[in-house]
Amino acid sequence: MPLNNPVETVSIALAERSYPILVGGGLLARAQTYHDVPAAGAALIVTNTTVEPLYAAPLRTALQACFRRVHLVVLPDGEQHKNWQTLNLIFDALLQHRCDRRTVLFALGGGVVGDMTGFAAASFMRGVPFVQVPTTLLAQVDSSVGGKTAINHPLGKNMIGAFYQPAKVVCDLQTLTTLPAREVSAGLAEVIKYGPIADMAFLDWTESHMGALRACEPKAMAHAVKRSCEIKAHVVGQDERESGLRAILNFGHTFGHAIEAGMGYGRWLHGEAVGCGMVMAARLSLALGLIDAPFVTRLVRLVEAAGLPVVGPQLPPNDAPGDGAADVSSNADRYLRLMRVDKKAQDGDIKFVLIDGPGRAVVRGAPDALVRQVIDDCCR
Ligand code: NAD
Ligand code: GLY
Repeated sequence: MPLNNPVETVSIALAERSYPILVGGGLLARAQTYHDVPAAGAALIVTNTTVEPLYAAPLRTALQACFRRVHLVVLPDGEQHKNWQTLNLIFDALLQHRCDRRTVLFALGGGVVGDMTGFAAASFMRGVPFVQVPTTLLAQVDSSVGGKTAINHPLGKNMIGAFYQPAKVVCDLQTLTTLPAREVSAGLAEVIKYGPIADMAFLDWTESHMGALRACEPKAMAHAVKRSCEIKAHVVGQDERESGLRAILNFGHTFGHAIEAGMGYGRWLHGEAVGCGMVMAARLSLALGLIDAPFVTRLVRLVEAAGLPVVGPQLPPNDAPGDGAADVSSNADRYLRLMRVDKKAQDGDIKFVLIDGPGRAVVRGAPDALVRQVIDDCCR
């Protein structure tokens, strides 16, 4: 079904780093979309092997109306490639094409391409502009907005990166029509997230439109993307570098990142891990007496309705520690070990994003024994 909705603009207010987030159908292929991007140098489209055959040609044609030179680099697809080796392919392309400081990078793809392109833009010649052209639901509702860029380290997710804002975000709803159902569900995890932490009316709306969202119905998608971007822009506008408030956007991510790293990057999709992680964080909130059981049940049902897992995996033993000894730790030990390298952790003390009332989140620690209990209850 075509998603040719009218164009709406959400603004993110960050003083001289402010930028517009365009939401609409068919935006990617229109030269007009990029009229305000500085075009004195070259453009480099960064994409991957899956997205390139779908959307690189129309983007390239649109950019050729603005830029004299438009280059393309195609990365391998997958979370397991969000690393130094793949990042270097972007730098190789920039240098081989003799790109200079006026170059603009265009991130065409999901959150993996967006996070790596942003990091490359932050560091090439100490910083060149970049534009996010997110093509997954997850990237349109979350990762393309807010300027977090990163690659993974084998010991921790998104551990190496920079805060670096894009010049513009172009959410073309039409691109969502080619997303596999599993990726739509993964994106819905981040849509669901905004309700319990910030906006109960949006949670109500998400519940009542879950069928339409899973079916990628145009009006529902347009509202989900726009409202998610508004909430995220509001939070990031108050705390760009996560010195406090912004951490609430990581609801479900502490457990989720442990699942992604512990299972091996790419086995669980980021959105699947976040969906399950929200269930675990809600159960921890309940165990701490912050919310009641019906609220947890409501969230579990919504995560399930989105087609996401609500039972955590048993993390496999890591049999390659430095001393070569077999890993005899328990499943809960493995979660705790991974969560201690989370970016919110302080001196190894894990900080969780918990729900402490409908539409309200808090960041705090929890006793290990309680966390173990929640992990044991939630994982099979
Ligand atoms: P992804 O980038 O791996 O994309 C998912 C899959 O969909 C890939 O196989 C991709 O090639 C494919 N794809 C992309 N667009 C498509 C389209 N239109 N049609 C068909 N297939 C398409 O995953 P994601 O879920 O988009 O992003 C997850 C990543 O985002 C993780 O690395 C996560 O850490 C990161 N993230 C970052 C932030 C942030 O604030 N920077 C926030 C949330 C998540
Ligand atoms: N996805 C969490 C953040 O952008 O802060």
